[in-house]
Amino acid sequence: MENRLIDRYGRVHDYLRISVTDRCNLRCVYCMPEEGMQFEPGHRIMSYEEIVEVVATLAPLGVKRLRLTGGEPLVRKELDRLVAMLSAIPGIEDIALSTNGIYLAAFAERLKKAGITRVNVSLDSLDSDRYAAVTRGGDVRKVLAGLQESRRVGFDPIKLNVVLMKGTNDDEVERFLRMTQEESIHVRFIEYMPIGFESPSWKTGYLPLEHVLDTCRRKGWSFAPCRDVYGNGPANSYRLNGAVGTFGLIHPVSEHFCGSCNRLRLTADGNIKSCLYWSDEYNVRKHAGDPAAIEALFRRALAAKPETHEMAAALDGASRSRTPTARRMSQIGG
Ligand code: GTP
Ligand code: 5AD
Ligand code: SF4
Repeated sequence: MENRLIDRYGRVHDYLRISVTDRCNLRCVYCMPEEGMQFEPGHRIMSYEEIVEVVATLAPLGVKRLRLTGGEPLVRKELDRLVAMLSAIPGIEDIALSTNGIYLAAFAERLKKAGITRVNVSLDSLDSDRYAAVTRGGDVRKVLAGLQESRRVGFDPIKLNVVLMKGTNDDEVERFLRMTQEESIHVRFIEYMPIGFESPSWKTGYLPLEHVLDTCRRKGWSFAPCRDVYGNGPANSYRLNGAVGTFGLIHPVSEHFCGSCNRLRLTADGNIKSCLYWSDEYNVRKHAGDPAAIEALFRRALAAKPETHEMAAALDGASRSRTPTARRMSQIGG
């Protein structure tokens, strides 16, 4: 296909992450400030029809995988209506959801019927007090109920996202790994990224994912890479010997994966981001009703996409310690 979305480094973009809202019912410590965020007013948020027009424009250019994110996507009303419209677009093969799982028990069934293919659920701790502290008020039992319901309705795979934080949940790695030994679940450990703010908690809380492999070695657990976990993102997957489930490592800071980046992002207020860690944005809303202009804007965004990011440089605390994107993670959707 000659009209594919290819950037100047030859990377083919077939995956769009769509943030449907900047709102969230939680305030995870690595994502939002304690006081919360000033949310965008409703009129600044893309309508479902606008989102559908963007996807219908990109699908003939080779975009076939979508991920709905937030904020928390399930706080937006009638998300299943959007999902149904997106799944009717020719060429769309995969519509995944990244959620904190709090409302999943209530919505899993209708999302599955509408066309969501699979879910990635944030769960940074299995301990209820600790979960409440990390999310600033969340109830872990709701997430566990959401996972159970996701299993019941047949989402597969179900992935857990665990952002690893030194001194917060690094002692739970073993517990999460044990979970994979017994359950058909894919647990991904994610390096804490310095997105959108100079957080002192990032500098002290960042922990390279070597910690996960060290935990396996210390326990004498052998593991091997596995290629059978369906996904479009950056995780490297492994299975402990004899385990039912698998685990994955997402290490943007210690070992970036920009060379294989296939992703574009659309924020809830209609801005194209060609890279998670890059300030350039291109607002697509003014081109509603004009697919040629929408396509041209995506190509402009791609033309400026950087080869890689400088997250690791922020660690040394020296001159380059500012994050290029001013947005918080909740305003991008991961
Ligand atoms: P699948 O592999 O398709 O299941 O999706 P995913 O792992 O990309 O999606 P998810 O929303 O669960 O993201 C998991 C983590 O990967 C989050 O912390 C994201 O911020 C991070 N991530 C996803 N894409 C990128 C990327 O392009 N760059 C960086 N640095 N991090 C990313
Ligand atoms: N670093 C790494 N992952 C993050 N996420 C949110 N903020 C950060 C961060 N600063 C994760 C969430 C969610 C996914 C979409 O992004 O935990 O699982
Ligand atoms: Fe909400 Fe997700 Fe951010 Fe947590 S990481 S505050 S669940 S958007």
